[in-house]
Amino acid sequence: MTIHIEVLKDLDLLYAKGLAIIEAKLEQGATTFGLATGGTMLPLYEKIRASSIDFSSCVSFNLDEYVGLPATHSESYRTFMRMNLFDAKPFAKSELPDGLAADVEAEAIAYEEKLQNAHLNFQLLGIGENGHIGFNEPGTPFDSTTHVVELTQSTRQANARFFNSIDEVPTHAITMGISSILRADTILLIAVGEKKRRPLEALLKGDQTTEVPVTALQDHKNIIILTDLDI
Ligand code: PGA
Repeated sequence: MTIHIEVLKDLDLLYAKGLAIIEAKLEQGATTFGLATGGTMLPLYEKIRASSIDFSSCVSFNLDEYVGLPATHSESYRTFMRMNLFDAKPFAKSELPDGLAADVEAEAIAYEEKLQNAHLNFQLLGIGENGHIGFNEPGTPFDSTTHVVELTQSTRQANARFFNSIDEVPTHAITMGISSILRADTILLIAVGEKKRRPLEALLKGDQTTEVPVTALQDHKNIIILTDLDI
């Protein structure tokens, strides 16, 4: 396991570091970026929007998308990405799973094929309170590729804050699998706030177990972690 961890209590510095890492990857020739949604990424995207970074010759792939939300829905991940990044910093092409596909299983397979053909130079990653990465919930095999998942109650509860009620949170999503994520050359994991202590501790100090999906990263050769947590 080669993990480079930086503990930054000052969140402004933490996110500035995140921006600097992405800028450095671009300078080193990275062209294919895996992106993430979630509250953790908002300050990072704010910094990217305010920067001079230019993704116009790059391609992006998002980790996941809800099943059943119209692309124009305010909480679809396509809308999240458009509002927080793509409108200001467009990529040559931005891929997200299509959560409205008539056959979502076939869509997952097609998305995985696109990913494998592109090869991710970089993957941005958050973690769930239950240790999920993307929407790979506890119990997901480490060799999983892009697939359709049923969201756990705890994930739906955590995301209910973005909807009027938990009943409106979709029950399913399409997510890159754990092996799809691990194929990225470099992974930048950002974990901010006490709620992320348990999964981060499991990654850094625990045994590898599918019960805590983020522990799959222990097998990766190039992980950078930015966190405000002393572990
Ligand atoms: P958050 O989500 O950034 O909103 O905490 C992270 C995740 O669930 O992967």
